[in-house]
Amino acid sequence: MFEALRALPADPILKLMVQCRNDPNPLKVDLGVGVYKNEQGHTPIMAAVREAEQKMLSSQTSKVYIGPAGSELFNHHIAGLLLGYDHPTIKDNRLVSAQTPGGCGALRVAAELINRSAPSATMWVSDPTWANHVPTFSAAGIITATYPYYDNAAKEIRFDSMLATLEEAKEGDIVLLHGCCHNPCGADLNQQQWQTIADLLLRKNLIPFIDIAYQGLGDGLDEDAYGLRLLANQLPEMIIASSCSKNFGLYRERTGAVMVISASADASKVTASNLMNVIRSNYSMPPAHGASIVETILDDSSLTQMWKQELNDVCVRINDMRARLSQQIAATGCQTDFSFIPKQKGMFSFLGVTPEQVHQLRDDYSIYMVDSSRISIAGLNPHNIDYVAEAISSVVKP
Ligand code: LMR
Repeated sequence: MFEALRALPADPILKLMVQCRNDPNPLKVDLGVGVYKNEQGHTPIMAAVREAEQKMLSSQTSKVYIGPAGSELFNHHIAGLLLGYDHPTIKDNRLVSAQTPGGCGALRVAAELINRSAPSATMWVSDPTWANHVPTFSAAGIITATYPYYDNAAKEIRFDSMLATLEEAKEGDIVLLHGCCHNPCGADLNQQQWQTIADLLLRKNLIPFIDIAYQGLGDGLDEDAYGLRLLANQLPEMIIASSCSKNFGLYRERTGAVMVISASADASKVTASNLMNVIRSNYSMPPAHGASIVETILDDSSLTQMWKQELNDVCVRINDMRARLSQQIAATGCQTDFSFIPKQKGMFSFLGVTPEQVHQLRDDYSIYMVDSSRISIAGLNPHNIDYVAEAISSVVKP
């Protein structure tokens, strides 16, 4: 039977992770996968997470099933973090939430729900977008199309082209937007642009789908949820996929949430029953451990404070590395301008070099990044930043 299958290439981001891991060069630098690293190049367990884990393990009394929606307490706190605890959609019973195996689980479950409810709707995704978006949606039978988003030459959002393309979307289509810290380009919509998008979605009866995997790594927890909250306040329906991988550092624990806002409380009951049915026939129920950690933190004010401080430190370090990379490259006398890097947000930016230069950085310097030249800024630290700046400068020099 399996002879009918044909071999497929490995996922480019995950393949790079393994290549770098196996590189014996002591100077190697991993700017590939989007994983936070501290100044020592290590991905630590947050102190708040460790404490919550201990608290949780000593108080846990059962491993009994929790059901397709996962933990109610987790769902309550994630909705609070994203929308604000007293958001009208929560009070009006228009919001249904489910804990999922990571942000990816949320995307897949949401895609299956969309396919059930609107099989002929097109999902519009930004060009560029996260490398796993289209594969995840296509695997659930969703038709995708792209809208222009980032201008590689000008290092800016192609906002007019984005709007012009979305004007072509048909009623009931879905528009996937990155809540903050756009992956891969780091360029986020400003407040006015969010409002313009909200007006367009409302006028054309399009449904926003927000993927938010980096809340707190851009400008702050509330600031990073600005666009999401604006749309939730102004549009009748909306889908959200969120992840705790980066902001709680829970990568392998696979912790995320899917949220669906329906137009009325009655519609929301129907949505909820379908969402639970999709989950049940998919993976039955989410794993509990990561979500228990998150709810333990968010249900305890001192642990929440501790986590917020740690998250803020992460954000400050990333922004510091953004500024220093741009300065250090300029200090080498490089003629190419990298001053756009500190203006962008979150874990990623495109360096803007060619695939050949990306390969040269990998082959000659053991500096790893995705072929698109997306760099994960958190891979930079005070020990390797000069080396990286010199290497970039030497490959971009004519
Ligand atoms: C990334 O974009 O590098 C991360 O979201 C990790 C992944 O799964 O691709």
